[in-house]
Amino acid sequence: MAKKKNQLDHLAIIMDGNGRWAKERHLPRFVGHREGMENIRRIALAADDLGIKVLTLYAFSTENWARPKAEVDYLMNLPIHFFDHYMPELMAHHVKVNIMGFLDELPPKTYQVTQKAMAMTAQNSGMILNFAFNYGARREIVTAVKQLVSQVQTGTLSADDIDEQHFSKALMTHQFGDYQDPDLLLRTSGEQRLSNFLLWQLAYTELSFTKKYWPDFTKEDLIQVVKDYQMRDRRFGQIESE
Ligand code: FPP
Repeated sequence: MAKKKNQLDHLAIIMDGNGRWAKERHLPRFVGHREGMENIRRIALAADDLGIKVLTLYAFSTENWARPKAEVDYLMNLPIHFFDHYMPELMAHHVKVNIMGFLDELPPKTYQVTQKAMAMTAQNSGMILNFAFNYGARREIVTAVKQLVSQVQTGTLSADDIDEQHFSKALMTHQFGDYQDPDLLLRTSGEQRLSNFLLWQLAYTELSFTKKYWPDFTKEDLIQVVKDYQMRDRRFGQIESE
């Protein structure tokens, strides 16, 4: 389906800079992550106000396991706190929670809370708040390839039928239908890289970078980012529109 040019349906955010935010204040890193978690609430409600349909947040990458154990443990507990504190508010806003990633590798308590949050909000019809948690795009793509190869091997799929659309169906974002590819990717904290996030889905996504650390990123900043996006000329590889 042809997409309306500057409609911001799917916003993806790499929430970066929690550690530096804490360091600047001579605080331990976990305080930065706690502030980052609280900011998820503010920005999710702001995104909902702005009519965004899918908000995807990069919360834990497959590479983040290499951090010190205490930090990993803290990050694994954040979804527990987040849904404990904010579920009533998410429900009141009809937010539907999705968590995508290699979830079976999470500690049991974290896994359970992800399943519970998705089950509780499954019937909600509002914005989709999609966490990428223990997510890595290369592994997502390899997993999709394996799934398709196995379908070809068992004869349920012909190799000739594998096109881009079919391939997308094997990715973790397939359930978002028309909104599976982000319109805009935002990364906070001044870094300008993708860090193994949504590599397939970002093919035609607009990119936005801000120097602000994630805990400092406000609703007003988000409104400005959306305004900037609306000024862009998205051509999807075609020539200029009239
Ligand atoms: C990047 O900052 C941030 C993370 C690796 C974690 C982000 C996670 C949250 C904000 C909370 C997740 C909450 C839920 C509900 C899933 P960094 O530590 O890389 O910062 P630095 O680059 O300044 O060190």
